[in-house]
Amino acid sequence: VGPAARALEFLRALTEAGASEQVGVPTGTLLRSPDERYAYVGNQLLLDHSADLGADELLALLDDLQAGLTHRRAYVHDEAQGARLHRAIAPHGWGGGAEVVLVLPDDVALSPTSAIAVPDARLRALERRTNMELGLPGLVADQLAVIRRRAATKLAAQGFVVTAPDGTDVAHATLYGGAGAVAQIEDVGTLLDHRGRGYGKDVVAACAAQARARGAEVIFLTADEQDWPQHLYRGMGFVPVARTWVLQREAVELS
Ligand SMILES: CC(C)(COP(=O)(O)OP(=O)(O)OC[C@H]1O[C@@H](n2cnc3c(N)ncnc32)[C@H](O)[C@@H]1OP(=O)(O)O)[C@@H](O)C(=O)NCCC(=O)NCCS
Repeated sequence: VGPAARALEFLRALTEAGASEQVGVPTGTLLRSPDERYAYVGNQLLLDHSADLGADELLALLDDLQAGLTHRRAYVHDEAQGARLHRAIAPHGWGGGAEVVLVLPDDVALSPTSAIAVPDARLRALERRTNMELGLPGLVADQLAVIRRRAATKLAAQGFVVTAPDGTDVAHATLYGGAGAVAQIEDVGTLLDHRGRGYGKDVVAACAAQARARGAEVIFLTADEQDWPQHLYRGMGFVPVARTWVLQREAVELS
C-alpha cells in the first residue's frame, strides 16, 4: 500500500473519530454529531459507493440523510467520482471543491522551529480566536472544538503553538497519530495581525519533526486546491499525492 492510500485511510479514521456517531448506509458511512450540528466535518456522508448516482439522486439522498440540518455535505475520496459529482451538482447551487493531499518525503530537511508543544486547553483557546477571525460564529467554533477534542483523544494528538515576542500565542497546528505509522498535520492557523512572519511554517515544521520523532512512515496534510496555502506546504517540501472532493451546500432552509 503506497503513501497516498495510507494517508487517505488515516484521513478517514481521523474524520470518523471526530463524529459522535458513525452509521453504515448503503452508499458509505454517515457521520452524525447531534450536539455539534453546525460543525460540518462531524455531520457528513463519507460517500464510498457513488458510481450509480447522478445529481438528482445525490441531492435526494443527502436531503433524506441530513434532513434537519442547515447544510448538506458529502466527502468523496475517489478522485474521479468526486470530480464527476462536483460538476453535476454545481448548477444546483452547491459549493465545496477539491482538496489536495500532500506528503512530506523522508529526505526533506525541516527548518528549526520556535513552536512548542502545548496542552489541549491552550491550543483550543488560540484555535477559537483564529476560527472566529475567519468568520466562524463562536457557537460553531465551540462545536468544532468538541469534534477535534473527540478525535484528539483517540488519535494521539499534540498541539503546537508559536508565541510572539510579547508572550501571546499567535499560530497553531495539531499533529495526529504517527507512532510507527501515519501522521496528519491539521488545523494550521495564524492570527491575522501576525501573518507573514514564518509562524505558519514554524508550527507545521514542529508537527512534522514530532511525527518523525514518533517514527511516522507517512506524514501528510490536506489543503484546499483553490487556495494558496498549498504553496506554503509545497515550499517546505510537501508533494501532492492525491485529490479528494468535498460536495457541500450551506444555508439550507429547514422545512
Ligand atoms: C495559512 C496560514 C496559517 C499561514 O500563516 P503565516 O504565519 O502567515 O505563514 P508564513 O508566514 O509561515 O508564510 C509562509 C509562506 O506563505 C507565503 N504567504 C503568506 N501569505 C500569503 C498569501 N496571502 N498568498 C500567497 N502566499 C502567501 C509567505 O510569503 C511564505 O512564503 P515564503 O516562505 O516563501 O516567503 C495563515 O494565512 C492562516 O491562518 N490562514 C487561514 C487559515 C488557513 O487557510 N489555514 C490553512 C489551511 S490548509
